[in-house]
Amino acid sequence: MMQQALDELERRRDQARMGGGRKRIDAQHAKGKLTARERLEVLFDEGSFEEYDMFVEHNCTDFGMEEQVVSGDGVVTGSGTINGRLVFAYSQDFTVFGGSLSERHAEKICKVMDMALKVGAPVIGLNDSGGARIQEGVASLGGYAEVFQRNVLASGVVPQLSMIMGPCAGGAVYSPAMTDFIFMVKDSSYMFVTGPDVVKTVTNEVVTQEELGGAITHTTKSGVADVAFENDIEALMAARDFIDYLPASNREEVPERPTADAWDREEPGLDQLVPASSNQPYDMHELIRKTVDEGEFFELQPAHAANIIIGFGRIEGRTVGIVANQPMVLAGCLDIAASKKAGRFVRFCDAFEIPIVTFVDVPGFLPGVGQEHNGIIKNGAKLLFAYAEATVPKITVITRKAYGGAYDVMASKHLRGDLNYAWPTAEIAVMGAKGAVEIIFRGLSEADIAEKTKEYEDRFANPFVAASKGFIDEVIMPHSTRRRIALGLRKLRNKQLDNPWKKHDNIPL
Ligand code: HXC
Repeated sequence: MMQQALDELERRRDQARMGGGRKRIDAQHAKGKLTARERLEVLFDEGSFEEYDMFVEHNCTDFGMEEQVVSGDGVVTGSGTINGRLVFAYSQDFTVFGGSLSERHAEKICKVMDMALKVGAPVIGLNDSGGARIQEGVASLGGYAEVFQRNVLASGVVPQLSMIMGPCAGGAVYSPAMTDFIFMVKDSSYMFVTGPDVVKTVTNEVVTQEELGGAITHTTKSGVADVAFENDIEALMAARDFIDYLPASNREEVPERPTADAWDREEPGLDQLVPASSNQPYDMHELIRKTVDEGEFFELQPAHAANIIIGFGRIEGRTVGIVANQPMVLAGCLDIAASKKAGRFVRFCDAFEIPIVTFVDVPGFLPGVGQEHNGIIKNGAKLLFAYAEATVPKITVITRKAYGGAYDVMASKHLRGDLNYAWPTAEIAVMGAKGAVEIIFRGLSEADIAEKTKEYEDRFANPFVAASKGFIDEVIMPHSTRRRIALGLRKLRNKQLDNPWKKHDNIPL
């Protein structure tokens, strides 16, 4: 009798593991996609994933659904470890009703989210779904909203990562949208609120799924997603690396991992990084890579608003968030897209106590009718607001230009920057010398302008005026940047700073 019961469990498990059956699994593979369970195997440490709710079934009796019941109801949920650390996940199974979301399917997702919140561990959602389970109607919509509500409650408490590995359309896109990060797979995933057919009907625009909401579109044009990967395996392996940078929750410190990279490593090459001409660009990635442990930098949104660089690295084995202007793109100007991109990243770091290192080379905000009409005022304010409210350790290094309002924005002393360094090549001023002179000395001859420009440059194209006021704590040698930052982070480890009590702030959205 006992053996029979055990066998029955195995039989039921085997059946659940087959999801929608061999034919649909083959179809999934033929599209170059892994199945829901295969994905979890790649994502988690070998053998560590423990599934819950394997026998949950839908409760729909309309449209013949009572005849079609699949154990698990189209989503695999549970927890496991990634490099030894606890993580919760759900993985939608496209072989079961196209991974569509039923009431019960949603309840399973909510259950892991609730558990993750209670114990303080990240949630990773693997999305591959035809959207609301059409046969269930409003029950499914309710299910979505239950998930949305938990995304919001979990925001800032545990990190949330969305992997888009198949269709994601209609209101279903709003769950990923409210998580912290979105990774997409090229050619097999897409996200849109209304698909190409509806777009054609309403606006007469003809567009493919890929153009409308594929991985390239969302990681370049819209900025909805952070990174695009070639295939499922590449995306899942990257998610493993990525989770390693993040604290498990807002109650825990950043993870620390051993490094062989000396904290005081000097980089003589950096002394030549800034070109002689201040209009000549250089690649800010070089400074980032030479500063962080072992040159490892996990960049987010590399192909969107590339005039600002954001991502995670480590110093002395501990995670830091890096924000850096990129002189190679739009001269490193702040525009709407860059301000939104970096603003949200700064807020993530602040929510999870990840120190922020800011590298500054910014000629100002991008001028233009387009920028003004699309609201650079309110959008630029997002980054300003984010830096100003952040209470985590903030270390700033100005490599070259720090002009105008953008000087203030980029984690300046005045926004409670803890340690503000400048290289000797720094130019900290209201604006570039020529522009400044043309305003103060309007109407002068070309020759006189040149002379006055030289005078203005001599006065302001250096870090010493700002340093004389204490706005810069120290002018440092470029080659010592890593050492200075490492020392700074050690000092700031027990930093305590609280904003005044409030229900929440009102960041310009
Ligand atoms: C129930 C669904 C389903 C759904 C797909 N299936 N979507 N079942 N509800 N929403 C089933 C199909 O019947 C089929 O079952 C299997 O999943 C695979 O679907 P195919 O169409 O054969 O696959 P494919 O050709 O790859 O196309 C995938 C797809 C398409 C593009 C996702 O299925 C599709 O357009 N589905 C409908 C999408 C949709 O309109 N969803 C509702 C949107 S409204 P069998 O048994 O044949 O294998 C919405 C609102 C959310 O989501 C609101 C939140 C607030």
